[in-house]
Amino acid sequence: MEKEILILAIESSCDETAAAVVRNGREVLSNVISSQIDLHTLYGGVVPEIASRKHIERINQVITQALLEASCTLQDLDCIGVTYGPGLVGALLVGVAEAKAIAYAAHLPLVGVHHIEGHVSANYIEHPDLEPPFLCLIVSGGHTHLVIVKDYGVFEILGRTRDDAAGEAFDKVARAIGLGYPGGPKIDRVSREGDPDAVFFPQGKLEDNPYDFSFSGVKSAVLNYLNHAQMTGETIRQADIAASFQKSVVSVLVSHTMQAAEDFGMDRVAIAGGVASNASLRAAMEEACREKGYRFYRPSPILCTDNAAMIGCAAYYEFLKGTRHGWDLNAVPNLRLGER
Ligand code: KG4
Ligand code: ZN
Repeated sequence: MEKEILILAIESSCDETAAAVVRNGREVLSNVISSQIDLHTLYGGVVPEIASRKHIERINQVITQALLEASCTLQDLDCIGVTYGPGLVGALLVGVAEAKAIAYAAHLPLVGVHHIEGHVSANYIEHPDLEPPFLCLIVSGGHTHLVIVKDYGVFEILGRTRDDAAGEAFDKVARAIGLGYPGGPKIDRVSREGDPDAVFFPQGKLEDNPYDFSFSGVKSAVLNYLNHAQMTGETIRQADIAASFQKSVVSVLVSHTMQAAEDFGMDRVAIAGGVASNASLRAAMEEACREKGYRFYRPSPILCTDNAAMIGCAAYYEFLKGTRHGWDLNAVPNLRLGER
């Protein structure tokens, strides 16, 4: 039997301080997430300086708990994996510095992980049968990409957003209709009581690339609708606007993905990133895949939003490929997908 590979993974790219222990890439022994949502809610969004400071306060405790829950010590580990970009520079630096310190002290190899590669890898954890190649829609707070996952950590980017990321659009619209931060989960929740056909909001279509996205149009349409309603004294139903906006975004995400699956002959479709936890997107994508006879993969909601288990999974496949980082590993806030 091959030797087991045990990885301690650290994630601190935004407002979640997270650590996990992952065995052989797909078996999660612990997955500890300390969210800062309550702190940032006061300010209506993530405050980078507060995020960095809270990561510093919490990271040791989170790592200790992850090791404890996995019943292992640093001596049992084979590798330290850490998100080194993209994300908030100060937040990333905390995880990177911590990972380097532990790896150095415990004489362990260090593997830096691209945050988005982590999101995609979340799909491997609960789907033992899933292996590349497959099509993946990545929808997070900072990214919207439609990619073919050609191999572990190897992506062909078919489309991306030209303006706002899908999660960003959810957050901005939520703020505009008075739902506050964090917008995505709140729109998801209130939409269940709303009528998705109450208002028609346009879908961003780009003539030159059928797989690219644009969400600034639908965002502006919601803002215009709100301004108009305010001027005319019309009462607005928050739930109806949320549901109508969500319908517009979900349908464009699904239609672009289905188009790419057909054009590139991909019969396995996955979704990843925080917006992949959206109930309406999950249902619509599942239905569309069922109609076409494609296999549909999605992580559980807790593995869609930021966590370290997905980083441990991505680190494992990078580790197998021989990826190793030195003590000069730095945070790269705008790290591109496919770049090292
Ligand atoms: O992947 P993620 O946790 O962090 C980034 O890497 O950005 O994604 C966060 C984004 C936020 O914009 C948040 O509003 C959105 O994902 N999000 C959702 C839902 N849960 C989180 N959007 C729609 N529906 C949800 N249920
Ligand atoms: Zn993320």
